[in-house]
Amino acid sequence: MTFTVLPPPSSGGICLVEMLNILENFDLQKHGRWSPETLHLMIEAMRRAYCDRARYLGDPAFTKIPGHLITKDYARKLAKGIDRTKATPSENLAKDIRLAEEGMQTTHFSIIDHAGMAVANTYTLEHSYGSRVVVRGAGFLLNNEMLDFNRRPGQTDRAGNIGTPPNLIAPGKRMLSSQTPTIVAKDGKVFLVTGSPGGRTIINTVLCTIINVVDFHMKPRTAVDAPRLHHQWFPDRVQFEGMNQYKDAVQKLRQMGHRFDSPRRQGDAHVIWVDPKTGTYHGAADARISGKAAGY
Ligand code: DON
Repeated sequence: MTFTVLPPPSSGGICLVEMLNILENFDLQKHGRWSPETLHLMIEAMRRAYCDRARYLGDPAFTKIPGHLITKDYARKLAKGIDRTKATPSENLAKDIRLAEEGMQTTHFSIIDHAGMAVANTYTLEHSYGSRVVVRGAGFLLNNEMLDFNRRPGQTDRAGNIGTPPNLIAPGKRMLSSQTPTIVAKDGKVFLVTGSPGGRTIINTVLCTIINVVDFHMKPRTAVDAPRLHHQWFPDRVQFEGMNQYKDAVQKLRQMGHRFDSPRRQGDAHVIWVDPKTGTYHGAADARISGKAAGY
């Protein structure tokens, strides 16, 4: 399979590929989609990719982004570091990053035309009306993404603030996005078009959707409705929409050291899946916020 994803200054593509590369070292199907084993491995992949996001990612015009992040070799090394029986404390992954002691405006469209040309478009303003500036003659608003920068140098903390150098504010620099509009192709043909809003959760929403469709062969409706999982390195906690549904798995994961936040709604993914057998397009709009699938 080939994945067409967004390059920096979005972290979406790199993190998604890094997580998928890690996860391909394990047989998720054998364990089942909602088993503690699969959930544990997904959380651990998320934790590692988001740690690298903090350590390395920012506007490539200002920051050298190491090429190894998306290599299979690197993913294999990370996969080997995953303890299958317990959660890795996020702090252990980043001894080099000093830890301090202590939206409603993004949407995604998935589009495919009769000739099979696909567009995955995530659109973000950040604040209502963005920067409140409309481009003369073009009719669209400019966004205001200043909150996507690391705001306070050195202030990386357990609450989830990041103060690492790659994404600090600088003149002319673009802020690190998490947008992950993604096109998955199989044998050179579009297979899946997806993406979501949701700030830092976006990348994990897309990961969950891809795992559901590609590894667990869910139809788009089921894949979009399925409970989502999020871990972003810090806070060192898991958000899992399926906490009440998959109590046994959650209990096992707790015993392994994962800590959970109360479940909350994650993302608003929109999916088009192309049935490889018939070439028929199947669209599914997320019911979590709004939207609909339509064909013309
Ligand atoms: O580019 C980004 O990562 C953010 N500006 C996205 C913000 C977002 O998804 C808010 N929506 N719920």
